[in-house]
Amino acid sequence: MIRITICTALVLILVLITGTCIDGDETGQNTRQEDEIMLPEPRTTGEISIEEAMRNRRSVRQYTEEAITLNNLSQLLWAAQGITSEEGFRTTPSAGALYPLEVYVVAGDVDGLSDGVYRYRAEGHTLQRIRDGDLRGNLSECALKQTQVTDAAANIVFAAVFNRTTAKYGERGAQYVHIEAGHAAQNVYLQAEALGIGVCAVGAFYGQEVSELLALSGDETPIYILTVGKV
Ligand SMILES: Cc1cc2nc3c(=O)[nH]c(=O)nc-3n(C[C@H](O)[C@H](O)[C@H](O)COP(=O)(O)O)c2cc1C
Repeated sequence: MIRITICTALVLILVLITGTCIDGDETGQNTRQEDEIMLPEPRTTGEISIEEAMRNRRSVRQYTEEAITLNNLSQLLWAAQGITSEEGFRTTPSAGALYPLEVYVVAGDVDGLSDGVYRYRAEGHTLQRIRDGDLRGNLSECALKQTQVTDAAANIVFAAVFNRTTAKYGERGAQYVHIEAGHAAQNVYLQAEALGIGVCAVGAFYGQEVSELLALSGDETPIYILTVGKV
């Protein structure tokens, strides 16, 4: 009897370990045998002009039920913080090139990506899995139950490591960090417009609750949510 119980426990542990190490097997692509997922290469040409994107951009709070693709997500993350030079400069400017923003994804309806929380790694253009499961509803709870957070195919969350910038610029550095989040968010808005995806900026949320949900480290503060979904 004891032997059976030990065997069952061992099998369960094995299932748990392998279960957390395999991702995206439904598609069989864009995965490594760890918690790091390679994103498709971002493209650098598009269908509409920057002027058209600026002209047409709106905050969109209602989405169709269609999933966004991993290509779409890759492109939006690249727009937010993608690396665009050998020196490591990015799509958005950063005071002192200190890059205080960390970008997270709360995915619930992305083709080729399991539901969960991911951290975007600009170096390598990959996603690192942080948590499993569809947490859009939980995130909406943290954001005063705003429905676009639940209905979005994914939510992009900007967290700031203020110290990266304030260590050099003092108090003024905190302003810089917020300004940078604005740059990155606008890039996402314009990129989304070019992809036929709707975005809504969400600043109304309880920071501590979002930190816990996303398992952020102590030096990361969530400052902005962008809901994204097909329109
Ligand atoms: C810092 C910031 C915070 C915002 N927070 C929210 C929010 O919590 N919920 C929401 O529905 N819209 C939010 N918005 C979107 C604004 O309501 C929207 O930009 C404004 O109504 C103008 O509309 P437009 O973006 O379509 O031009 C926010 C926008 C900014 C810039």
